[in-house]
Amino acid sequence: NVFRATTTAPVNIAVIKYWGKRDATLNLPTNSSLSVTLSQRSLRTVTTASCSPSYPAVEGDSLTLNGKPENISSSKRTLACLSSLRALRKELESADSSLPELSTYPLRIVSENNFPTAAGLASSAAGFAALIRAIADLYKLPQSPTDLSRIARQGSGSACRSLQGGYVAWRSGTNEDGSDSVAEEVAPASHWPDMKALILVVSAEKKDVPSTTGMQTTVHTSPLFATRAEHIVPKRMIAMEEAITNRDFAAFADLTMRDSNNFHACCLDSEPPIFYLNDVSRAAIRLVNDINRVAGKTVAAYTFDAGPNAVIYYLDEVSEVVGGTFKAILGESLEGWDGPFGDRLRGVS
Ligand code: DP6
Repeated sequence: NVFRATTTAPVNIAVIKYWGKRDATLNLPTNSSLSVTLSQRSLRTVTTASCSPSYPAVEGDSLTLNGKPENISSSKRTLACLSSLRALRKELESADSSLPELSTYPLRIVSENNFPTAAGLASSAAGFAALIRAIADLYKLPQSPTDLSRIARQGSGSACRSLQGGYVAWRSGTNEDGSDSVAEEVAPASHWPDMKALILVVSAEKKDVPSTTGMQTTVHTSPLFATRAEHIVPKRMIAMEEAITNRDFAAFADLTMRDSNNFHACCLDSEPPIFYLNDVSRAAIRLVNDINRVAGKTVAAYTFDAGPNAVIYYLDEVSEVVGGTFKAILGESLEGWDGPFGDRLRGVS
């Protein structure tokens, strides 16, 4: 008698970036952030969680990621997520004695990404979101995605935004215990069906400076960061939600590009400076500017996370122009791409 649940979680790409923690233990952010959840046809993680009284107790909980066993006892974040989920299951079991005591059985978690792990492609977001969802399904937990986002956040901050589709805001919250630091849907994907995303895989290599350490360097050393967190982001969150509500692509694009630039400026302002963009990233920025100039209006926007890979947001009506231009000018410099009209990632099994 093995109990099992399988689920997938998509990647999300922030348009107002999370960078900086006000509490590193509870994983609470300095500022709110907002992201777009990409379609499941694109980048995603598939996770199966199972538990059974016949799994040997001595083995404890186990996690296999892309076919390789991971040492979860050394991952405080994974342990925190598992114990929060178990506690919720225990509550159900104490309220109803007819339920099988799944909370007492060892867990086996098997997870596969269909994209390179830790290459700045938000793998931790999809990974932890899928892990939380799979175990919540296995345990038949009644909690809403917003409730579960509190647990996912402890795995990886950005993961709390991948439990929901469409446009998702992660409210930084002000409570010290993090109880109000949760993700909520701003609009479903269906609100803006013309919105498309293209991922340019500039490099599938593991990133130099992991986001967790990079953001702490910025918090402690960048004077620019304080202005970003206090003054710039709060205004942008309001303006971004308005742009999404009104389906105002020009405003959405302007805020997205400015916020990516401001985040990378804070990285450069850190000591030692952190460089995530490379020559190909900068060429992609120039190309988006050229596409917009030739179109005579803003039809495309770029954004970069903690790595050189570009995510281009654009409207369906300019698919051909955006796809054609990137293929013609940057095609040879890329390791691959993924998106509504893109090929699958090249060189990644
Ligand atoms: C640049 O969520 O990976 O992608 O909470 O330490 O796991 P941890 O950080 P993580 O940081 C993501 C940073 C970002 C911006 C974003 O997704 O908002």
